[in-house]
Amino acid sequence: MSRILITSALPYINGIKHLGTLAGSMLPADVYARFQRSRGNETLYICATDEHGTPTELAAAEAGQDPASFCAEQHQVQHDLGRRFGLSWDHFGRSSSPQNHRLTQRFAQGLWEAGFIEERVTQQVYSKFDKRFLPDRYVIGTCPHCGYGAARGDQCENCTRVLDPADLINPRSAISGSEDIEIRDSKHLFLRQSLFSDKLRAWIDGKKGDWPLLVTSIALKWLDEGLQDRGITRDLEWGVPVNAFEWGSNPKGELPDIEGLAGKVFYVWFDAPIEYIAATWEWADAQAAEAGRGPAPDAEWERWWRGPAAADVTYVEFMGKDNVPFHTVGFPCTLIGSNERLEADGSWRPANNAPWKLVDRLKGFNWLDYYGGKFSTSQQRGVFMDHALELLPPDYWRWWVTANTPETSDATFTWEQFQAQVNADLADVLGNFVNRILKFTETRFEGVVPEGGAPGDLELKLQADVAAKLAELTENLDAMEMRKACQSLRQLWVLGNQYLTEAAPWTAIKTDPERAATAVRTGLNLVALFAKVSEPFIPFAAEKIALAVGEPFPGVWPTGSTALDILPAGRKVAAPEVLFKKVENEQVADWIARFGGAEGQ
Ligand code: 2FM
Ligand code: ZN
Repeated sequence: MSRILITSALPYINGIKHLGTLAGSMLPADVYARFQRSRGNETLYICATDEHGTPTELAAAEAGQDPASFCAEQHQVQHDLGRRFGLSWDHFGRSSSPQNHRLTQRFAQGLWEAGFIEERVTQQVYSKFDKRFLPDRYVIGTCPHCGYGAARGDQCENCTRVLDPADLINPRSAISGSEDIEIRDSKHLFLRQSLFSDKLRAWIDGKKGDWPLLVTSIALKWLDEGLQDRGITRDLEWGVPVNAFEWGSNPKGELPDIEGLAGKVFYVWFDAPIEYIAATWEWADAQAAEAGRGPAPDAEWERWWRGPAAADVTYVEFMGKDNVPFHTVGFPCTLIGSNERLEADGSWRPANNAPWKLVDRLKGFNWLDYYGGKFSTSQQRGVFMDHALELLPPDYWRWWVTANTPETSDATFTWEQFQAQVNADLADVLGNFVNRILKFTETRFEGVVPEGGAPGDLELKLQADVAAKLAELTENLDAMEMRKACQSLRQLWVLGNQYLTEAAPWTAIKTDPERAATAVRTGLNLVALFAKVSEPFIPFAAEKIALAVGEPFPGVWPTGSTALDILPAGRKVAAPEVLFKKVENEQVADWIARFGGAEGQ
């Protein structure tokens, strides 16, 4: 048994997520987590809402709420939707948790004491009208690169260039619209990322061939362009406060200027990845509380993250391509820096603590588009998780999204293609197979698994084909190749249909009842097999299928030799209600009218 730690990129708190967010992190992570659990591996799948930063403050203000109540409410909404989609998080935490406050502060303090953080005085945009600094998105103005008039202080939406608020031409406040703005000095903490280039390059070079090319090439591009030191604090109120704890001194014996840093918080991209660890701590505390114990001892969450206790953990991260730099550069600097110490003479030595684990396998994704254009939250263009569940059960979405995971290139959602694929794969192939064999068992075998005779040529061929396909599916899931895994699974379902058509128990029963019984027994075993191997992808239908043939759910991942030898003769079985209704043309027409289609391009 291995131990697998899985994290999927933390969804921002502001707004319900669309299918693109599901496709590029949460859903593939879930498929992988379910697969690992069913193989008997100790698996921990962690996710959380990413609650800090200017987008949160702005969204809360727009909703007329303070950030804390806005986040509490929105976290609940996202948690419920995730559960309804079958996302099997072991814990869905919050980056605003007390655990994350503690850990973020501890990491920052450790990095300061190790010599990897320094103070700098920077020029920040200040609104005299609002009487506050305006970091990141709080400033709107003209992009100095492309001239776009409504560029935000952190990035231009038009040309996608990363910006500094002070770069904007004709800046104005996003809060009040006021142009009464000046540049003022403000002290901030900087993580000295530039010192980490060689270490990061050696680490990432070692992952070539193992991580997707998409990931290593993004990471190496950042390194090639030269790593910049990064400001990790902001002039904001909502976030993890900088001065709320005792700072120690750095290797030069200096303390940070606590007064100069008063009222500042850490930058969202500094505390968000730390929440992966903090959410594990939240999980351990929740487990302890459930068992009637007090807060969990550190060892219970640290065994996933640091030192010899975590040596047998494989840590796997899932994310969209825009997140790759933060996970191959930013977060690793935090972790590596916390495992090291910079001496006053500039040399490095290992820190005297249990080292933090770096990611072992990183799966990055391209974009899922909507009719070739972007999903848009502001224009409500595309399919969002809440609407999706109003229209159809979660497995339809899970199947289509996983089968079309944007792995090697961007992928596009269209209603027409969605309809064609779910109807073909789920209704015609899987649903039809399960229904055919179970209905026949009910009418001709009193709903009982028959004994049958010895396997004939057809069954022996089926066994070999199934074993090969199952091995392929297992390999694809192990490799986190989601599209290929869906193809293998679909082909397994097809093998079932082909077998049933050839064995034709409905014909055999007239002349050779034992032969028919053998075919029915084999068909029912295929049903049991399909329940087990489909679970990571379509857990709701898989549960119904398992129950129909009296199998436990979730099941254990089958192996080739026992794949068709699951059900004992004599077991009672029953056809489930219709597993997948077909998506009709009228529905598609309705949905296109409601959500937009090709003509919206
Ligand atoms: O891009 C995003 O949606 C971010 N909220 C992802 C954060 S991942 C992690 F580092 F927290
Ligand atoms: Zn621009």
